[in-house]
Amino acid sequence: MKHLLKMLDLSTEEITEILDLADQLKYELKHGIPHPHLKGKTLGMIFQKASTRTRVSFETGMYQLGGYPLFLSSNDLQIGRGEPVQDTARVLSRYLSGIMIRTFEQKEVEDLAKYGNIPIINGLTDFCHPCQVLADLMTIREFKGKLDGLKMCFIGDGNNMANSLIVGGLKTGMSVSIACPKDYQPPKEILDFAAGYGDKFEMTDSPAQAAKDADVILTDVWASMGQEEEAEKRRKAFAGYQVNDDIMALAKADAMVLHCLPAHREEEITEKVFEAHAKEIFEEAENRLHAQKAVMVKLMA
Ligand code: CP
Ligand code: NVA
Repeated sequence: MKHLLKMLDLSTEEITEILDLADQLKYELKHGIPHPHLKGKTLGMIFQKASTRTRVSFETGMYQLGGYPLFLSSNDLQIGRGEPVQDTARVLSRYLSGIMIRTFEQKEVEDLAKYGNIPIINGLTDFCHPCQVLADLMTIREFKGKLDGLKMCFIGDGNNMANSLIVGGLKTGMSVSIACPKDYQPPKEILDFAAGYGDKFEMTDSPAQAAKDADVILTDVWASMGQEEEAEKRRKAFAGYQVNDDIMALAKADAMVLHCLPAHREEEITEKVFEAHAKEIFEEAENRLHAQKAVMVKLMA
């Protein structure tokens, strides 16, 4: 494993190794056991979109591992003024031990990996959000004791979160049911991948069908970063795709609810369901820290 560009690149064994290491780092942190695996290393963090969790968890995580994080806003970098990614990658490779990037196009992340020679970590693109889904899998395993054989249900937009959840869920032995309006399904590349898993994958436009007997229900915002202008149109398209009491009544009685955050209460999820599952949701947010530290150790130690 040289980079973390998308879940599609990871084998089941690599996912399990990351989750095991994340559990260990979480244990060590809680018990005051230092783990300076990245002493003397530096991580550049390029942000072309806003962030609370990703920025703070990477920055803190790098510090806890003994390394040094550099926050690089695209407003200040020459990349924001059009310097090509190929050049940025080759320059930053000479200063840094690794790069985390949050941007729009997946190609930009792939190009950084192609032209640079240091590990690249995808901190969210329009296509996927692998760091979030590793934290989600970690959280599910923590609460349920396993992943294999569970049913994951995602309701909402066939977006970066849906894409990574489909791949991560299927690769770890879960069955995955996705409910999206017809015009908002995940892209062909993801549906083709999922088709290889036969009846372990279900794509439907019925939230009720997707939620039936689910062990874990996930959702995400209806308008992602960069789609703000379409927010009103999307609100109409996604009416009926809310995680609420009716949906929860169809899932297993002990079903978990996860949300990558930020959440829009009374849009994709009701306040009531959100608060009833706040324990899982905020553990999920915490687990970003541990899962990403595991990724950085795997790639950069
Ligand atoms: N879930 C997530 O990636 O949050 P931020 O956008 O705050 O980083
Ligand atoms: N789908 C959301 C996820 C935010 C963490 C977005 O891309 O804005």
